[in-house]
Amino acid sequence: MQQSPIIILGIESSCDDTSAAILKDGKILANIVANQDVHEAYGGVVPELASRAHQQNIIPTVDKAIKKAGISKEDISAIAFTNGPGLLGSLLVGSSFSKAFALAMKIPLIEVNHMHGHILAHFIEEIDGTKNHPDFPFLCLTVSGGHTQIVKITDHFKMEILGETIDDAAGEAFDKVAKMLNLPYPGGPILDKKAQLGNPNRFKFTHPKVPGLNYSFSGLKTSVLYFLKKELQKDENFIIDNINDICASVQKTIVDILLIELKKAIKETGIKEIAIAGGVSANSELRKRLASFNKDYNVYIPKFEYCTDNAAMIAITGHYKFLQQDFTHQSIAPSARMKV
Ligand code: KG4
Ligand code: ZN
Repeated sequence: MQQSPIIILGIESSCDDTSAAILKDGKILANIVANQDVHEAYGGVVPELASRAHQQNIIPTVDKAIKKAGISKEDISAIAFTNGPGLLGSLLVGSSFSKAFALAMKIPLIEVNHMHGHILAHFIEEIDGTKNHPDFPFLCLTVSGGHTQIVKITDHFKMEILGETIDDAAGEAFDKVAKMLNLPYPGGPILDKKAQLGNPNRFKFTHPKVPGLNYSFSGLKTSVLYFLKKELQKDENFIIDNINDICASVQKTIVDILLIELKKAIKETGIKEIAIAGGVSANSELRKRLASFNKDYNVYIPKFEYCTDNAAMIAITGHYKFLQQDFTHQSIAPSARMKV
């Protein structure tokens, strides 16, 4: 008898992207992301506005995903949703929707840790069967707006944090520096674009001194702030006239800091399977520098749309949990803070 396929609906709503994805036996059928422009005017995510926008976006986004996948809602085997970490109001929209959907459709409910999802994004298969995932054990540099971690992964569910930031995340450093440079929100990708036109060696910023495999980015933020203040006193057009070089120099410093600790982790563990995950893995300099690692290690860089927040990564984590029958219950409550 032919086994029926496992079809997972994934829901992601931890920050300011409302996303729904459908995976059939681990293969991607749809991954819809609704961004929220409402935050642009405020130069950062406003939690209350994010929750309201999720509330408006969630049903149309799920509807689009189901239509794009060419399935009907009765075909869905289980629903997987982000239960944390993230903004509590935003998480509540995705979790409440998912609970209601599971109840109405009489299907299992699966909770997913957002950071776990970023890591397992490497296991999403394309519809034509293309897949390129790291072998266990592998190291994953997980870099997002809220996290910067080096994680050792021994199987789909066994993960150990070897090092992490003691203050700001790398994405936060990109965003905060972009704000100082008067770049619109979201700053990271815009800073990256400008950096590609600039000289990365023009300005030097100091590296943090942190024990172990840990990171720190708050010192860099302060040193850029003082540097800009000093230069603006001499020339009020300093930022406008040097924007590309400033962006390139800051970007190079952040990527240098990220890779120094990653190389240390590779040396300490002897693991040669290396992956990146999280929104900052969309950064062009980080991708370029990691690609040059290729001759010594196997490097895995996810497709662009699986780097920033998306529901496909939640659905693939849901798929592996479904295989283990690891389901949750209606009384589950999302949590703003959660370790991988
Ligand atoms: O994983 P993600 O989409 O959301 C969180 O879970 O935080 O990551 C968002 C972060 C933001 O800080 C954003 O500025 C950064 O990723 N980011 C980038 C780039 N694309 C997104 N940072 C640098 N260069 C990029 N190209
Ligand atoms: Zn994320």
